[in-house]
Amino acid sequence: MPIISTSGLARTFTTKTGPVNAVRSVDLTVAPGEIVGLLGPNGAGKTTTLRMLTTLLSPTGGAATVAGHDLISDPAGVREKCGYVAQSGGVDPHVTVREELVTQGRLHRLSRAAAITRTAELAARLGLGDLLDRRTSALSGGQRRRLDIAMGLTHRPPLLFLDEPTTGLDPGSREDLWDLVRGLRDDFGTTVVLTTHYLDEADALADRLVVVDQGLVVAEGAPAALKAEHAGSPDASLHDTFLAITGRTPAAADTAPLAV
Ligand SMILES: Nc1ncnc2c1ncn2[C@@H]1O[C@H](COP(=O)(O)OP(=O)(O)O)[C@@H](O)[C@H]1O
Ligand SMILES: [Mg+2]
Repeated sequence: MPIISTSGLARTFTTKTGPVNAVRSVDLTVAPGEIVGLLGPNGAGKTTTLRMLTTLLSPTGGAATVAGHDLISDPAGVREKCGYVAQSGGVDPHVTVREELVTQGRLHRLSRAAAITRTAELAARLGLGDLLDRRTSALSGGQRRRLDIAMGLTHRPPLLFLDEPTTGLDPGSREDLWDLVRGLRDDFGTTVVLTTHYLDEADALADRLVVVDQGLVVAEGAPAALKAEHAGSPDASLHDTFLAITGRTPAAADTAPLAV
């Protein structure tokens, strides 16, 4: 049984200048325990797809089942099973890491004692144990991203969505996050769907890649299979593969990490 199954999932935004077909039709199947990378140029529809799958945005077309719940008729059921870490983090700069995590636990209806226990577990898991009394405004980019992920894991979701988890991080912090994601899958069987425009990240981390362009899935498969199919060899670079699939590079940020 797949943990995610979508059929013709679509979202059109109505804007002053006319309709924007952000996601035209996405058919996606994800198996439990898979790490799936959604790869695509800026504006391809990656964030819109994640926001639909996590019930933050209603689809304007199609259907989906997420973690055993129908996306349209049972969004509350879906929400309970999903952790979502948004593209640009949402932590309050004035509170400490501990306060942020305990509050998040309380939002998920844990008792205060349970929220404190959960905070300690998450801090240990995410390498935040020494930072619990630090204000979130004083965290480095990598530390902040780990806090974002800790918050997304508060309710122990079997399914975690990460939108560009490593954009702007230095190479060491990026690799730490990759280890963390693999560890969640290996130790808890967590299914992870992440978006990235870093090809090396997609290559290193994802079991399977889904390439999205202009709101459509244009290619999918394990990294080596995609390379063989589109760039002639399983050892081809993902850059050449991506270029062959979409006719362009994923994003300018691909080669130039942003300063944090
Ligand atoms: N709330 C919105 N209103 C209008 N257009 C939107 C909205 N959100 C996203 N879009 C448009 O939908 C397209 C897909 O955006 P997005 O899903 O954010 O892409 P990605 O995450 O792949 O960069 C873009 O053209 C974007 O401008
Ligand atoms: Mg996005």
